[in-house]
Amino acid sequence: MNEKVLPGQGLGFANVLLAPQRSDIRSRFGDQIDLSTTIAHGVPQIHLPIISANMDTVTEANMAIAMALNGGIGVIHRFMTVEDQAQEVARVKGYMRTIEDDPPLLPETATIADAQLFLNKRPRGYVIVYQGPLFSGAFSGIATTRDFLVEQPDAPLSLIMTPREQMVTVPQGTTLEDAVGIMTNHRIEKVPVVDGDGKLVGVYTLKDNELFQRFPHASLDREGRLMVGAAIGVQPNDRERAHALENAHCDLLVLDIAHGGLDYTGEMLNVLKNEGGIRTPISAGNVATREGAIYVRESGADGVKVGVGPGSVCETRNVAGAGVPQITAILEVAEAFANDSQPLPLIADGGVREPGDVSKAIGAGADAVMIGGLFAGTEESPGEPITVEGTLHKMVRGMASADALEARKRIGDTSTDPRKYAPEGKTMLTPYRGRVEKILHELASGLRSGMSYVGAHTIGEMKERARFYRVSPGVPEQRRPLQ
Ligand code: XMP
Repeated sequence: MNEKVLPGQGLGFANVLLAPQRSDIRSRFGDQIDLSTTIAHGVPQIHLPIISANMDTVTEANMAIAMALNGGIGVIHRFMTVEDQAQEVARVKGYMRTIEDDPPLLPETATIADAQLFLNKRPRGYVIVYQGPLFSGAFSGIATTRDFLVEQPDAPLSLIMTPREQMVTVPQGTTLEDAVGIMTNHRIEKVPVVDGDGKLVGVYTLKDNELFQRFPHASLDREGRLMVGAAIGVQPNDRERAHALENAHCDLLVLDIAHGGLDYTGEMLNVLKNEGGIRTPISAGNVATREGAIYVRESGADGVKVGVGPGSVCETRNVAGAGVPQITAILEVAEAFANDSQPLPLIADGGVREPGDVSKAIGAGADAVMIGGLFAGTEESPGEPITVEGTLHKMVRGMASADALEARKRIGDTSTDPRKYAPEGKTMLTPYRGRVEKILHELASGLRSGMSYVGAHTIGEMKERARFYRVSPGVPEQRRPLQ
């Protein structure tokens, strides 16, 4: 064969099927199957190996919250100002917590109207009230949104609050479970936690507890907050962006470069980690070959993102003529790390159209999949649904599309001149699909089923045990996109 043509045959999702194997899994829904996975070194495990893509029609705070509640994680896109992106991260981190260690605080002289304004910015159902000009840990009462209804807006909080003497508190060290018992006995919804000197340490709320009960598999950081990722690029302000995201307690940075094999990847990782002192783990990409994988690893990344061209709104293969069929890309990258004592976690990005693709990606060696187009039609994606010929749709666009470039110009990103650039992404309408939770259940169920066919109890076993049959490219009716 001509040496310009690489050996082997590129395999996409439609070119393979998982081989069924002897299996002791009796029920795919039971606890014989564990979907926990590591998406980058240094990031706590998530419980569903599914990540929503850093696209501006897919992941902002609402999507990231829903993803993390259901055990996955969302990566907030970077096509907004540094402040806005850090704010989106902060919204996810502040959504749920075991203990509120930074409760909303106002002085006694603040009015109900002040408190309402304040809580618009920090959505909580209460404020802790203190005496004097500065909060020193001592507090004099609590005012809830229900209390706001009994007086005029200009009434001071001292008038409507429940004073400290009548408040139930719990000592530092009380567990959430015990605090819930105490709140239930006293018919209250919030209970401040105090130290030995009676100073405020935090607040437990029934609402937080309800979320923990409702979402037992939520992806939580070491402090019990929802986990979230955020994308950064290689623009001049991306160093500042990385610091702002780190300060907002972002759990994972995703270094987002269409061709991760460029020098930018190594340079940016060096700027961030060695010069900038960024400690947040960074997954870098996208690459799709053994060479690219080794370059990312040698550049000091904590994880690798794999996929050149498989995306639903991607035109790279058409415009640049470059790309690697996604199963081959995953196999090659996983193989490049096969002898490492701690292989870089691999996120397979793009091309998932139906539940079986998740099983195939993980079987080929991915630790998690990133999904864009399939989630763009959900309630939680940015933008409102629109009606087209009587049915609801939402817009989805490639981040290298002409539309997205125009939007990027509006936030000062002029790195690409749309007049000289052939867009490598397109804009499309996608059917409105309701809540993302429903799709996640379908994807998780498909993965569990795939694992039971392979006899894999964990994501690690799935990566290890899976074997594929090569099949001729999808007979159209065999590909069943999610409804
Ligand atoms: P899916 O198939 O889930 O893929 O929609 C999501 C991934 O597609 C990539 N992406 C692009 N690739 N041009 C591209 O070549 C684009 O304009 C574009 N926008 C998104 C990206 O990796 C995403 O996670």
